[in-house]
Amino acid sequence: MNEQQAYENAIMQDAISYVKEAGALIMELMKMPLHIQEKKNQADLVTEVDVQSEQLLRSRINHAYPDHWILSEETDGGREDSHHTLKQSPTGYGWIIDPVDGTINFIHNIAHFAISVGIVKDGIPIGGVVYNPVTNELYSGQKQGGAFLNGRRLQVGHEQDISQALLATGFRASDWKPNSVVVEQIGRMTGKARSVRIMGAASLDLCLVASGRLTGFWHDGLYPWDVAAGMVILQEAGGLLTDAAGKTFVLSDDSLVASNAAVHEELMSLLK
Ligand code: IPD
Ligand code: CA
Ligand code: CA
Ligand code: CA
Repeated sequence: MNEQQAYENAIMQDAISYVKEAGALIMELMKMPLHIQEKKNQADLVTEVDVQSEQLLRSRINHAYPDHWILSEETDGGREDSHHTLKQSPTGYGWIIDPVDGTINFIHNIAHFAISVGIVKDGIPIGGVVYNPVTNELYSGQKQGGAFLNGRRLQVGHEQDISQALLATGFRASDWKPNSVVVEQIGRMTGKARSVRIMGAASLDLCLVASGRLTGFWHDGLYPWDVAAGMVILQEAGGLLTDAAGKTFVLSDDSLVASNAAVHEELMSLLK
């Protein structure tokens, strides 16, 4: 193992331990009454739990890695350019954080939300950790190192045909209105795919495809913090990740199509 690999392995181990610590904090804070605040619209919410989870992660990273950059939802999400920040790719190592992905599930006490932490080097995601503290499921992936769920190696599902596919999608945060494009897309999947779910936590959706539980997932308008960790986990599990046109997905893309690779073409053509 060379020096760089050893350094990146150490970052991954630290990321796992910070994420577990944030998970324990969330479990504690869940016992107390929640204060919910609206951001851009009635479906765009934040609680003090999101904020505290983010603060904990940022302070651990700043302390151990003062020369790394950090992009996180509740600190950077208000910035107009936050969607495309990764276009001007900061160099060096960086961390992309969603302190609670699936805030609406969290608020409604549905045990399907996660802390998502992606590690990026020169703009390219090289590692990711996605942790659901309620189910205690920790997904991790490292470029060229494989993807794991609680230490067990992950592999995407074997479905060869869209008729066997269980798919998921979701609403873009800024498009919370009737007749959004996704409603029409779901309609087109009906009678073709086995079924379609809206699970409500994009980072976990990618991990569900990585673990073969879902066959595919599509979503427009996601932000880097929804995707950075899950994309490494999915790719390392043998999955395929493109934009709607079939180009390899990058963090600044607006559209995302993820699958076990086998149904990718069919899924993309149904979405068009
Ligand atoms: C949301 C979730 C959801 C997706 C939304 C995201 P948040 O993130 O990932 O699944 O459909 O577009 O904004 O706000 O709960 O971190
Ligand atoms: Ca949010
Ligand atoms: Ca999110
Ligand atoms: Ca969030």
